[in-house]
Amino acid sequence: QLICEVGTGNGGSIGGTSPLPASLSKLLIKGGTVVNAHRQERADVYVEDGIIVAVKPNIKVGDEVTVLDATGRYVMPGGIDPHTHLDAEFMGTVAVDDFFSGQAAALAGGTTMHIDFVHPVNGSLMSGFEAYEKKASKSCMDYGFHMVIRHWDESVSKEMEIMVKEKGIKSFKFFMAYKGTFMVDDAVLLRGMKRCKSLGALAMVHAENGDAVFEGQKRMIERGITGPEGHALSRPPMLEAEATGRAIRLASFVNTPLYVVHVMSIDAMEEIAKARKTGQKVIGEPVVSGLVLDDSKLWDPDFITAAKYVMSPPIRESGHNKALQAALSTGVLQLVGTDHCTFNSSQKAFGIDDFRKIPNGVNGIEERMHLVWDTMVESGQISVTDFVRITSTECARIFNIYPRKGAILVGSDADIIIFNPNSSFEINPRSHHSRTNTNVYEGRKGKGKVEVTISRGRIVWKDDELKVAPGSGKYIPMPPFGFLFDGIEKIDAKLVSSFKAPVHRFKSDV
Ligand code: URP
Ligand code: ZN
Ligand code: ZN
Ligand code: ZN
Repeated sequence: QLICEVGTGNGGSIGGTSPLPASLSKLLIKGGTVVNAHRQERADVYVEDGIIVAVKPNIKVGDEVTVLDATGRYVMPGGIDPHTHLDAEFMGTVAVDDFFSGQAAALAGGTTMHIDFVHPVNGSLMSGFEAYEKKASKSCMDYGFHMVIRHWDESVSKEMEIMVKEKGIKSFKFFMAYKGTFMVDDAVLLRGMKRCKSLGALAMVHAENGDAVFEGQKRMIERGITGPEGHALSRPPMLEAEATGRAIRLASFVNTPLYVVHVMSIDAMEEIAKARKTGQKVIGEPVVSGLVLDDSKLWDPDFITAAKYVMSPPIRESGHNKALQAALSTGVLQLVGTDHCTFNSSQKAFGIDDFRKIPNGVNGIEERMHLVWDTMVESGQISVTDFVRITSTECARIFNIYPRKGAILVGSDADIIIFNPNSSFEINPRSHHSRTNTNVYEGRKGKGKVEVTISRGRIVWKDDELKVAPGSGKYIPMPPFGFLFDGIEKIDAKLVSSFKAPVHRFKSDV
């Protein structure tokens, strides 16, 4: 039986006190428009024990079934956020949202699964995995893991295989920035990409030139620019483009798919566009902050106001956001994440005299679905089916868990939202469910509202109230290979056969 947990948020309500009725194991969503990435249709959705068992019009059920009326609403797969940092140790502090509060916030915003980044512990991937298993034991929704690679040796290479074959990890992230802590050089990146390819795992990059960023930061401090604006000025788009282009070329050299996380600039996006035009398998993930914000707040005279917008790569000047939206709507970029990594004002204040010490990160796990709807669907840039694709289905496909996740199909997990396009939302740090005391989207209003969230058959968000229990979320292992790897060996074979036989030269020829 589910127990409701109260008061984990920052003033937002999490849960009443009554346990949920057992009948919730059988659920009928009636009269809505069911939207999948491939089509939308008028249908009812019937769920038993957390699994969708029927999707068709006019399903009749008995009294023991809980019925939700979705008339005039869209019934869509719950969102999947490919990029979060819950309970993350970062820049000398720990992100304030843990696996319970961050996930509760996610559910209140219509996201029913996320993929977080495991960091190795003392160089060991296994120790890192175990540490994150512990952190995630309080989960109230389903989650998966990527793994960060921070150095290279034989044991890392061996552990990568164990992670993929035994632990359900199919993606490894390489930081090309954060010199002195997370950053890896090209040699590590190349070896990592080769290893990823052999295991059917996806190589992911945080693409900024870390050496140049280091130099740019020094330059700002020497000029007396110590405030949050120095963050943006020290790491301009060209450094993001350089690293994005470099990673793309190395992935092409290895012939393995590449996933570029948090694409924040036109410059980086164009590198991805160029590679995709040649047929290279490069996935580009914009994040909500990059799509809807601009850098103007970094110049706010109030330090705390400005510091809350500090993340890396930086939120860019106005114009980049619109271009990233256009790239997303035309398929140059494929799915939307958040990079949810929240710090309170007191933590942001670590950098009051030096922007280099401001913990990097913004919120978004609760706001993503609403902001993408309002920015992309309400503006007419994308269809409702495209909304499902970029917020859920494409992520499930890339990480090889489709159609268990990312779809409303018979046999899929019942991770479902009921969305009212005629209602509205407003973002406020006093009513949001994240533990952070600020919100970079504060004051935003828009059309559309997630009225109900269902997590594997349980109603966890309804009537603006969360009913969530720590420990109810499940780890979703992600199998290696998948569609991005199809055909890779054929391209390899073609490359080998195209190598010309060496020309033997003799001294007498000269
Ligand atoms: O500023 C950011 N993005 N913080 C989270 C860590 C990362 O680089 O993804
Ligand atoms: Zn080692
Ligand atoms: Zn990053
Ligand atoms: Zn991140």
